[in-house]
Amino acid sequence: MKRLLITSALPYANGHIHLGHLVEYTQTDIFARYWRMTGRRAIYLCADDTHGTAIMIRARQEGRSEVDVIADMNAAHQRDFAAFQIRVDHYGSTNSPANRALCHEIWASLRERGRVTTKDVTQLFDPKEGMFLADRFVKGTCPKCAAPDQYGDSCDKCGSTYAATDLVEPRSALTGVRPEVRSAQHLMVAIEPERPFLATWTQAEGRMPKEIANYLAGHFLSEPLRDWDVSRPAPYFGFEIPDAPGNYWYVWFDAPIGYIATSKEWCDREGESFDDWWRSEETEIVHVIGKDIVYFHTLFWPAMLRSAGFTLPSRVQVHGFLTVNGEKMSKSKGTFVLASTYLKHLDPAYLRYYYASKLSSKVDDIDLNLEELVNKVNAELVNKVVNLASRSSRFVAGVGLSPVYPDDGGLFAAAAAEGDAIGAAYAAFDFARATRLIIALADRANEYVDRMQPWALAKQPDKKAEVQAVCTVALNLFRQIVLYLAPVLPKLADDVARLLGCPMDRWAHAKTPLVGTPVSAYEHLMKRVEPAAVERMVAESRPAEEAATAGAAAPSGAAGVEDDGAALAKEPLAPECTIDDFSKIDLRVARILTAEHVPEAKKLLKLTVSLGGEARRTVFAGIKAHYKPEDLVGRLVIVCANLAPRKMKFGLSEGMVLAAGDDTVHVLSPDSGAKPGMRVH
Ligand code: 2FM
Ligand code: ZN
Repeated sequence: MKRLLITSALPYANGHIHLGHLVEYTQTDIFARYWRMTGRRAIYLCADDTHGTAIMIRARQEGRSEVDVIADMNAAHQRDFAAFQIRVDHYGSTNSPANRALCHEIWASLRERGRVTTKDVTQLFDPKEGMFLADRFVKGTCPKCAAPDQYGDSCDKCGSTYAATDLVEPRSALTGVRPEVRSAQHLMVAIEPERPFLATWTQAEGRMPKEIANYLAGHFLSEPLRDWDVSRPAPYFGFEIPDAPGNYWYVWFDAPIGYIATSKEWCDREGESFDDWWRSEETEIVHVIGKDIVYFHTLFWPAMLRSAGFTLPSRVQVHGFLTVNGEKMSKSKGTFVLASTYLKHLDPAYLRYYYASKLSSKVDDIDLNLEELVNKVNAELVNKVVNLASRSSRFVAGVGLSPVYPDDGGLFAAAAAEGDAIGAAYAAFDFARATRLIIALADRANEYVDRMQPWALAKQPDKKAEVQAVCTVALNLFRQIVLYLAPVLPKLADDVARLLGCPMDRWAHAKTPLVGTPVSAYEHLMKRVEPAAVERMVAESRPAEEAATAGAAAPSGAAGVEDDGAALAKEPLAPECTIDDFSKIDLRVARILTAEHVPEAKKLLKLTVSLGGEARRTVFAGIKAHYKPEDLVGRLVIVCANLAPRKMKFGLSEGMVLAAGDDTVHVLSPDSGAKPGMRVH
């Protein structure tokens, strides 16, 4: 079978992983794990998508370099991936030397083929910030329906799309000033020459979901394809275009090239031949993406790959959006849940299983109904699957399985035969079907155990051999089921490998029963989902209600900033202090572990910080207007650690997070490499 290289869309480095992202990463991971289990050579690669205006602005706001921001986020993303058992073979970054080199190579080939042209592009320019504004950074009144406060590309109210220059009374979202209309020369890539090729390539059977192929044929491929604008003038965080100084590749140019760069890094690390993976008919490339980024992956990307002589994807798998409880994820409803918040309350296995049970190869949106998640996991995984082992293994712990596989009326053989249909469902991204087939096997296995009642037999001293036989059948059926679920629930498979002392990493293991082997003492394999834990997760994800009462403003000293920032800037310098005075202040590096809104406080965020080891402090910081809590989590900051604790209306504040600023607030962070607990001199 051909080698398989699987990717999912590279997450932006300007935000944390949330439950919406996890649909795709779980989907890709299940697919990759299935193929690895079959023995096929399959790798799953991912990376952070690091370039663009949003990162640049975030870095400016935080007073850090972009490189620092993306390094922290890369570490956070990898932590979330690992915690959700998403096993990538390599996790890269688009801001890597490998990616820069590949961008140069692909660019050179586009130039050589005469695909690069120039065009004067008129855009809004923020004179205060000295930069052109991406559409999302301009707000104004909708030119169609006059709704105020709309973004520069489309109106939330009437749904119309327009150019940012058409907005009435536009203003920069960065500085609030009125932007100027300016023109700059951009570099464009011609896609039209590839249209005949794309018209065939996109329509090939199995290349992408049928509805996507039809959409492309109807909306794009039936008329000339417009040139693609791939450059942005400075300032821009990205790679400078070698033959157009002062211009940078637009983030969407170098992002997919990150797939290749990450492969290159993996090949170099593993001693693999890069050409085997990206320039070979013996490799299949599968991209898993969301429906919002289809045309980058099905028009621009294949056009670039073809021009530079790389292997084209054999499949672009597209999933829909996630809704939670039937609605768009919502911060105020607490349904915009970060991966790290979920993990504080629930086992990742629950979500992996729930998503698997909902995912098909179709582009339909999927709904995470939290009540259904509780019921489904408890009814199917706990009651039907895990219960099989808890009901039978204790009777054979220390005794072991029968030396010869007993007569089970054909149950094992039927389940072994079902492995092909289940495998085919995984291979077709139809995980909903795979889990349905597996749960049907669990139903049959449970009927067997209910009928044979090993607990009743175990009470009869002369039925020892029968007990062993019944439990051997039950545990073998259980093992088959867990093997089939292993792509979805890898940790359960590992735990069962320990319980039964057998490997659980090959699909083919389901064909041969396990006999004559010892069984370990049963240890809990999966807890029931507690609805209260789900509620706690939602509560933690919901920003606390703000009390509108004026004067409720709490002292904001915790951030080292007074309410009136402008006054602070104008304040004269404090009286001179000696080095001895200064050394009384114990400043430490701390990591923000949690950040949450404080009910009824207009300005405060409640932070828990780690001062290294087990030391934790609660700090109330007056920075609510300037930071989203989730953006603070994981950041290193400087804390005054020996400040006398201060009793506030909302709790005890045990330190102060240092920040700079006049009318904005900039939390201070140490340079990279600092660790929580380090003393600040
Ligand atoms: O839509 C997104 O989240 C992008 N960061 C995906 C990039 S995928 C690939 F092209 F890099
Ligand atoms: Zn409108």
